[in-house]
Amino acid sequence: MDRLKGKVALITGGARGLGEAMARKFHEEGARVIINDLDLGAAQRAAEPMQAHAIAADVSNSEQVKLMFEEVGDYAGQLDILVNNAGIGGSDDDPEAEEKIATRMAAMEAGEVVHNDAIMEMTDEQWDRMIDVHMRGTFLCCREGLKQMISLPAGSIINIASVMGTYGKPGFVSYSAAKSGILGFTRALAHEMASRNIRVNAIAPGWIETDMTAPLTLMRPMLESQIPMGAFGKPDDIAWSAVYLASEEAKYITGQVISPNGGWYMSQ
Ligand SMILES: NC(=O)c1ccc[n+]([C@@H]2O[C@H](COP(=O)([O-])OP(=O)(O)OC[C@H]3O[C@@H](n4cnc5c(N)ncnc54)[C@H](O)[C@@H]3O)[C@@H](O)[C@H]2O)c1
Repeated sequence: MDRLKGKVALITGGARGLGEAMARKFHEEGARVIINDLDLGAAQRAAEPMQAHAIAADVSNSEQVKLMFEEVGDYAGQLDILVNNAGIGGSDDDPEAEEKIATRMAAMEAGEVVHNDAIMEMTDEQWDRMIDVHMRGTFLCCREGLKQMISLPAGSIINIASVMGTYGKPGFVSYSAAKSGILGFTRALAHEMASRNIRVNAIAPGWIETDMTAPLTLMRPMLESQIPMGAFGKPDDIAWSAVYLASEEAKYITGQVISPNGGWYMSQ
């Protein structure tokens, strides 16, 4: 309790999933929370039980992001913690995605040579949207958020990456590229902001139970069999890492990646 007392935290994409879990834990630890999401109603519903403030903005839209941070300034007058969490999975626009992957997995298990041609089917728009939401969104929110954070004696930025940024998820080159880009961005910004005592770190979750991974019904047993700890993680597993990185306990930690992934990938 009270590990974040007196702090103001903005969590992007906080209406559900990992963002909502981080917002809730931050609130429980004493922070004043601001929840951003695309849809104001959804952000308000998440915000209500934790007396948080809700702001609608598409993090990939420069104007909307500028307006969001103006509102943060007007509402709270300070910003101590920024969590860049808003993200998209990439298979939303292909309802047969999981079935295609399952068919491919079965063929591989049967010893067949299996090709993955996903990149040749990806449109310019799909590539751009993935890079825009994750990388441009993280850049825009850091740029605008830092203008407020630098007036405080300390700050913490937490960028949500993924194990796929290091491992490379087949069929998801744009997602893997975006998450890998976030890791490089995090390290460079950590160097830049160290003299201002603003720490910049990343969390690279493994497989976590949220709406993003809910469609993986066919593949889930196979995926869980590859996780040494035997199961998908819960949103709170990520939220606890975020509380730690945001708190004074992590005051000597910057430019690092924490990867709660049940042991699935051990080399972030
Ligand atoms: N769930 C996992 O297994 C997992 C693993 C690794 C990384 N991640 C990452 O964690 C983050 C959260 O994922 P989740 O599983 O909670 O997903 P989710 O789909 O449950 O929630 C994502 C939230 O982000 C919001 N959002 C999407 N685009 C936005 C935009 N342009 N502007 C503002 N908000 C936007 C959505 O509306 C949604 O509320 C994402 O960055 C995701 O890539 C998730």
